[in-house]
Amino acid sequence: MNILLFGKNGQVGWELQRALAPLGNLIAIDVDSAEYCGDFSDPEGVAGTVRRLRPDVIVNAAAHTAVDKAESEHDFAHLLNATSVEAIAHEAATLNAWVVHYSTDYVFPGTGDRPWHENDETGPLNVYGETKLAGEKALQQLCPKHLIFRTSWVYAGKGNNFAKTMLRLAQERTELSVINDQVGAPTGAELLADCTAHAIRVAIHQPEVAGIYHLVASGSTTWYGYAKLIFAEATKAGIPLAIKTLNAVDTHNYPTAARRPLNSRLDTTKFQSTFNLVLPAWEKGVKRVLNEWFSASTAK
Ligand SMILES: NC(=O)c1ccc[n+]([C@@H]2O[C@H](COP(=O)([O-])OP(=O)(O)OC[C@H]3O[C@@H](n4cnc5c(N)ncnc54)[C@H](OP(=O)(O)O)[C@@H]3O)[C@@H](O)[C@H]2O)c1
Repeated sequence: MNILLFGKNGQVGWELQRALAPLGNLIAIDVDSAEYCGDFSDPEGVAGTVRRLRPDVIVNAAAHTAVDKAESEHDFAHLLNATSVEAIAHEAATLNAWVVHYSTDYVFPGTGDRPWHENDETGPLNVYGETKLAGEKALQQLCPKHLIFRTSWVYAGKGNNFAKTMLRLAQERTELSVINDQVGAPTGAELLADCTAHAIRVAIHQPEVAGIYHLVASGSTTWYGYAKLIFAEATKAGIPLAIKTLNAVDTHNYPTAARRPLNSRLDTTKFQSTFNLVLPAWEKGVKRVLNEWFSASTAK
């Protein structure tokens, strides 16, 4: 099986390089790759890459993920998150190839407190969510063999994310305020990559599983609850922290360029039953990655 991975150096892309390697012949590229175009600001270029490589499976981990920045560069975000996805979907359909793609809880408006199902009505609150939704729709319309995984609050050993920022701030400041009215599930890039590899193996033999799925770790928390767990684990590991006071605040106390949904809970029943997989509690993956960081920092 020939697999083409776009966005190989992002949080999820990096883990996919590991998880997809045993499935077949993996060609992994990123925005700067010299031999094949992996730059999503060039839809014709990425389409040309698909035509040249003729993969059986395309996994797309590239995206415009800067949620606040997207508010001031709508066209660029749309080019990366929708137009290039559309170009890839078109080529994949011609080749009868699979496209695996990631989307976001930000396609939903964040109302209520019930976990969102795949077929619930969407209503993005920001440009990032709007462009990711356009990418989903293009893929669904153009390429029958697709797997779209909507996820949330991604962290990884590689790249920047909330957990790393919190640890740094807790070492620099004595007091921090963290949002306590947005609810979601921190989800590890490792888990996403491993689940993707399993799902591809199922899809190859059962094309009827094509579709959209919610894929996040189990349970839910707020950014405040997430930060609390990070600081507790750091303390247990003997990492010195300056923080003395952690304040729980509402979203309106922390204005950002992009509006964010309050309810980011995603129901993963469809994913778990279709692929016969179990999604572990969010705390497990977070503790694991934290302890990897702590052992690396104490080994220095
Ligand atoms: N991060 C989250 O919390 C989150 C939540 C829900 C859904 N998702 C979705 O999950 C997927 C993976 O996200 P992630 O967390 O791994 O994001 P990430 O770490 O920001 O990775 C995105 C990748 O896209 C690349 N990229 C940026 N501009 C590009 C361009 N013009 N052409 C090609 N590649 C470009 C980045 O390269 P550089 O690093 O060189 O810029 C990076 O390798 C995305 O579809 C995202 O929308 C993420």
